[in-house]
Amino acid sequence: MLVLGVETSCDETACAIVKDGRQILSNLVSSQEDLHAAFGGVVPELSCRRHVDVLIPLMQKALQEANCSLAEIDLFAVAHGPGLIGPLLIGITAVKALALAENKPFLGINHVEAHLYAAWMSQSRPVAFPCLGVVLSGGHTTLLLIQDLGSYQMIGETVDDAIGEAFDKAAKLIGLPYPGGPQIEQLARKGVPGRSVFKPGNVKNRPFHFSFSGLKTAFLYALKGQNGVAEREVSLPEKADLAYAFQHAAFSDVIDKTLLASEKYGCKSVLFGGGVTNSQTLRALFAARAPHLELLWPSQGLSLDNGAMIAGLAYHQYQFLSGQKSDALDLEARTRISF
Ligand code: KG4
Ligand code: ZN
Repeated sequence: MLVLGVETSCDETACAIVKDGRQILSNLVSSQEDLHAAFGGVVPELSCRRHVDVLIPLMQKALQEANCSLAEIDLFAVAHGPGLIGPLLIGITAVKALALAENKPFLGINHVEAHLYAAWMSQSRPVAFPCLGVVLSGGHTTLLLIQDLGSYQMIGETVDDAIGEAFDKAAKLIGLPYPGGPQIEQLARKGVPGRSVFKPGNVKNRPFHFSFSGLKTAFLYALKGQNGVAEREVSLPEKADLAYAFQHAAFSDVIDKTLLASEKYGCKSVLFGGGVTNSQTLRALFAARAPHLELLWPSQGLSLDNGAMIAGLAYHQYQFLSGQKSDALDLEARTRISF
C-alpha cells in the first residue's frame, strides 16, 4: 500500500511516499530556516506563503523519487494538527484536493503522535509495550504512557514553553539564529561544565510536568543582568559556559522525569520523538544515565518534522485502527489536539 504523507504544521514543507507503513520510498523536506532565522522564531504569514510556493513541486519530486505516479497512491495523509493554523490549512487543502481528484481515501494525522511513530518505524525489532513516549519539539514537551500504538495516556507536559522553544529563545538572546537547538548544542561543546549552573523548573504536585520559563529567565539574567540590559560584553567562552549550563539543565530535567515515570509506570522502553531528539548530546546523556532502558530513537531524517512519519502513521491507522475508513473532506485544521 502506497501512502503519500504531507507535513506543513510549522516551518517545514515535507512530503514522503511510504510503502506499507515502513518502507520509505522518498522523504523530502524543504526547510524555511533561512526565512525565519533573522526573527528568532517562525513568522506564520511568511511560512504560509512559502508552503504555497513549495508544496506542489515538492510533491511532484517526491513521486518522481519514489518512482510512482499519483494514480498509484492508495491513501493520502496530512498533518491536521497540532500546529499553526495557516500553515496547516495549506497542507490539508492540497491533500484533500488530491484525494478528491484521485477518488482515494484521505486521513488527517496527529503531528505529535506521528513524531512517536517515527521512532517506532525506525526499529527493526518489535517494541515492547507499555512504553514511555517522550516528545521533545519546538511546540511540545510531553510524556505519554503508551499501551500500544493508538493508545496513549498523557502523564506530563510543559506548563509554559516547549523545550525546543526554550532553546530557540535562549539562542536568540545570545545572538544566534533560529532554530536555536543545534546552535546551542554546538556552542555548548566549547563550554566548561560547572562554571555556570541553572536549575530546571518543577511544577508543584505534578512530578512529570515541565516548566522552562524560569530557566529561560535565569539564562537572560546571567547574560544581561537582572534588568535585562547588558552592562558589559559577555565573552564567547562565557557564552559557551552558559549554553552548556542551559542545555545541561534542560536535558537533565527531561532525563530525571523520564526515569521517574518509567519506573512508576513499569516501562522498560522509551520511544522518543520531535526535533530536539536530533541532539547527539541528549542521546549520549540518556545512554549514560539510562542503560537499563531500551532507548528507541528516530533514525536519521525522522527526528525533525517530515512527511514519512505522517504517511507511516496513516498506513497503521487506516489498516489497523480506523477500519479502512477515510476521514471526511470537511476535516478541519486544529491548533491543539490533546491525548
Ligand atoms: O519537531 P520539530 O522539527 O518541529 C516541531 O514540531 O516543533 O522541532 C523543532 C525544534 C526547534 O525548536 C529546534 O530548536 C529543536 O527542535 N532542535 C534542537 C536540536 N535540533 C533541533 N533542540 C536542541 N538540540 C538540538 N540539537
Ligand atoms: Zn514536529
